[in-house]
Amino acid sequence: MGVENPNKINTSKLDEILQSYDYKKSNLIAILQKVQEVYRYLPEDAMIYIGTKIEGLSPATVFGVATFYAQFSLEPKGKYEIKVCDGTACHVRGSMPVLNAIRAKLNMPESKLTSDNGLFSLETVSCLGACGLAPVVVINGKVYPQMTSDAITIVLETLLKEEG
Ligand code: FES
Repeated sequence: MGVENPNKINTSKLDEILQSYDYKKSNLIAILQKVQEVYRYLPEDAMIYIGTKIEGLSPATVFGVATFYAQFSLEPKGKYEIKVCDGTACHVRGSMPVLNAIRAKLNMPESKLTSDNGLFSLETVSCLGACGLAPVVVINGKVYPQMTSDAITIVLETLLKEEG
């Protein structure tokens, strides 16, 4: 499924999703998962729309459900989702210099969750259960073990080159 312009809500696309789930309140989680797949996050306008279209729901309820589950993001995500593990093992073995190298390479100060070009989003996470490979970085589900500042910089340069 292609990614929609995250700044513009396409109501016919939302209707298509709602239709495929019979506009049912009991399908709300699946509907939100689908919407997140399309936009890479849950735009506020989409949640309001869903809340007004499904009987028995309100925008506030949809918003409440979306914020309750960690799987849902209310912020736009980049094409590449970078997760830097900062659990104890990774921290001790140098996750912070790796994180700083990513911030420097992508020009993302701490206040930024997504790069200006919309390509990368960055977050720190707690232990990913791969402590033997620390420090670990995960990009779109792919695990990069024993990262160093130099290694992650090369990985990012390769992705940037691929994106032209
Ligand atoms: S602390 Fe990073 S994988 Fe466990």
